[in-house]
Amino acid sequence: MAKLSKVVFLWKVLLSIPLATALPQLQAQLKHRTIKPEEAKGSYDYVIIGGGQSGLVVANRLSEDPKVSVLVVEYGNFDDSYDVLDIQQVFRDTTHTKYNLTSVPQTQLAEVNQIQGVPAAAVVGGGSAINGMFFNRGAADDYDNWEKLGNPGWGFKDLLPYFIKSTTLQIPDAEFAKEFNVTWDEKVYGKDGPIQASIYPVQYPALKTLWSGFEELGAKRQKSGDDGNAHGLFWATRSIDDRTRTRSYARTGYYAPAASRKNLDLLTGWRVNTITFDKKKQATGITMQPRSSITDPKAKITTIKAKKEVILAAGALHTPQILQRSGVGPSALLKKANIPLVVDLPGVGSNMQDHPQVTMIYEYTTAPPPPSNPPAPLPLMANSVALLPFSLVSPDKYTSITHSYLSAPADAYLPPSYTPAQKAGYAKQQKLLASSLLRNDNAALEIPFSGGAGYYLLMLTKPLSRGTILLDPANPYGEPLVDFNTFANPADLAIAIEAFKFGRKLHNTTSVKQFGPVEVSPGAQAGSSTEEEDKELEWAARVSAVSSTAHLSGTAALMPRELGGVVDRELRVYGVGGVRVVDASVIPLLPGTHPCSTVYAVAERAADLIRGRK
Ligand SMILES: Cc1cc2nc3c(=O)[nH]c(=O)nc-3n(C[C@H](O)[C@H](O)[C@H](O)COP(=O)(O)OP(=O)(O)OC[C@H]3O[C@@H](n4cnc5c(N)ncnc54)[C@H](O)[C@@H]3O)c2cc1C
Ligand SMILES: *[C@@H]1O[C@H](CO)[C@@H](O)[C@H](O)[C@H]1NC(C)=O
Ligand SMILES: *[C@@H]1O[C@H](CO)[C@@H](O)[C@H](O)[C@H]1NC(C)=O
Ligand SMILES: *[C@@H]1O[C@H](CO)[C@@H](O)[C@H](O)[C@H]1NC(C)=O
Repeated sequence: MAKLSKVVFLWKVLLSIPLATALPQLQAQLKHRTIKPEEAKGSYDYVIIGGGQSGLVVANRLSEDPKVSVLVVEYGNFDDSYDVLDIQQVFRDTTHTKYNLTSVPQTQLAEVNQIQGVPAAAVVGGGSAINGMFFNRGAADDYDNWEKLGNPGWGFKDLLPYFIKSTTLQIPDAEFAKEFNVTWDEKVYGKDGPIQASIYPVQYPALKTLWSGFEELGAKRQKSGDDGNAHGLFWATRSIDDRTRTRSYARTGYYAPAASRKNLDLLTGWRVNTITFDKKKQATGITMQPRSSITDPKAKITTIKAKKEVILAAGALHTPQILQRSGVGPSALLKKANIPLVVDLPGVGSNMQDHPQVTMIYEYTTAPPPPSNPPAPLPLMANSVALLPFSLVSPDKYTSITHSYLSAPADAYLPPSYTPAQKAGYAKQQKLLASSLLRNDNAALEIPFSGGAGYYLLMLTKPLSRGTILLDPANPYGEPLVDFNTFANPADLAIAIEAFKFGRKLHNTTSVKQFGPVEVSPGAQAGSSTEEEDKELEWAARVSAVSSTAHLSGTAALMPRELGGVVDRELRVYGVGGVRVVDASVIPLLPGTHPCSTVYAVAERAADLIRGRK
């Protein structure tokens, strides 16, 4: 009980910041400057498509140079409601700041589960304004695989300066750190970067027991997961400003400080339709129209010129669609849609990855009570993360699953639209992923845990299936057709089954057994043999899987063109001039983590590349 009262004490310290008044004040300080459409100039040096997370980073960095003019066009609007800032509102309804679309049927999932949501932000700040504020990074190995794929200069050591540049670490309270054995690695964060990274200073007492449970199964404690060692157990930062307990995101960190610059214009509530090209395939600008007019076939279309470059930051969902609409994409698709071809680039809209997820629910009958006054922090606001190498998830099967993954022809489970070059690209990914799955310096499964509830999201960190985002030939200006292809590669399903089994083992450790865990979902094993258990869990995976953890990426991949890539090492789109992609689309292989911190680092690097600082 002594420990519990310490938790309560900490909470009281926190409450000494008067949150109820702080939030509206903070909100009022948020700079708010949109231009009226008639104020838009006819031309800018740079036109940025999308004022989401990456778009605002690049807008800030480019407009640091007062001689350069920048326009950002964002489909969404400002969301000034202070629920955006209030971290307790992380699970609020965000329908009004998201796109409204679903996937095509996912045929490997159970019939009731085939239509999947496609979460994507439509608001100034993009994903960073509505995301869950997980802020961890992948293992060094994850980024080193980007480099090995044929992208020199894109390994972890190259990205680390940008992870540092984009962040400020708020050092956890010493007493709290001691109580919960919180560790971190100060040197891998900045001291005055735009995005605040912190560790939530109130934790459940049950948490310590869970750490021990994972350790019983061989998971190693790491000092930090953000220094390249995101494999094992560690404390993960959240993108939260702990001084005010508010969301730290692209609008507060990158837009607000730049909002009053005269050389930066932001137009909200407008949709970019296409990028325009001259005869030499050099980008000349964009066409756009007000969001309010997109269903009006006679709507007036406005053209804006870009003197230097057009920068795509429309997110992994719309960046490929805008390229395809502009004539840059798979020629067969563009032909079907009657779009004049500028360059045949089959990779645009392929290589799509997200983290599929399955869920386990346990009830704990004898766990210590959570901090009750004030109420416990949100159970899913976990700061502790287990990122488990495949050998730990499944000591018995990881080699056989990996070897059968590797021995299947690379193109066996790929989307039908894949060309030989794209297949060759996937073959290279397959070798790298298999090699990583057999090693221990990276993870196959992520389990965030708070000790707050027996609710576990099991996230497959190395998706092996590949999906597509292709414009609808019948309606290129409607939402694109999204196919995650979840579990198309049977190795993904096999890993999901092993993930469930790991969850069961965790609840059978001496440590966690103290809590009297009862498996609510998938529900205690009925079959008696291993084969029967596998069958039951396979069904549980098909019926309950979520295709997207909102980590959509890869659809304009940084890879050599001869491997189906879309952008080169400097993020320039192949085959045309004056167009770069700076958002989550360029991620060639999704790192085993939540992508927000990686998107900031990539966008910071992109800004340096655009400014000619390498
Ligand atoms: C609900 C949700 C929860 C998430 N949780 C986490 C988490 O906890 N931790 C984590 O690390 N990551 C999380 N993510 C993922 C992370 O936030 C994203 O990977 C990241 O924000 C993507 O940044 P981006 O710049 O690529 O795209 P976005 O931030 O999505 O920006 C794209 C912007 O472009 C605009 N746009 C699109 N098309 C057009 C057009 N034609 N014209 C003009 N504008 C256009 C969109 O409106 C949008 O604002 C989450 C994402 C979501 C959606
Ligand atoms: C989302 O789209 C569906 C079908 O296309 C429609 O029925 C629904 O009303 C839309 N929801 C919102 C909030 O616009
Ligand atoms: C605290 O963490 C360190 C390493 O991060 C570990 O060596 C130590 O055993 C832990 N202490 C307790 C009490 O769990
Ligand atoms: C739990 O672990 C014990 C050994 O510690 C083992 O005998 C038993 O089969 C395990 N139960 C389950 C459901 O895995």
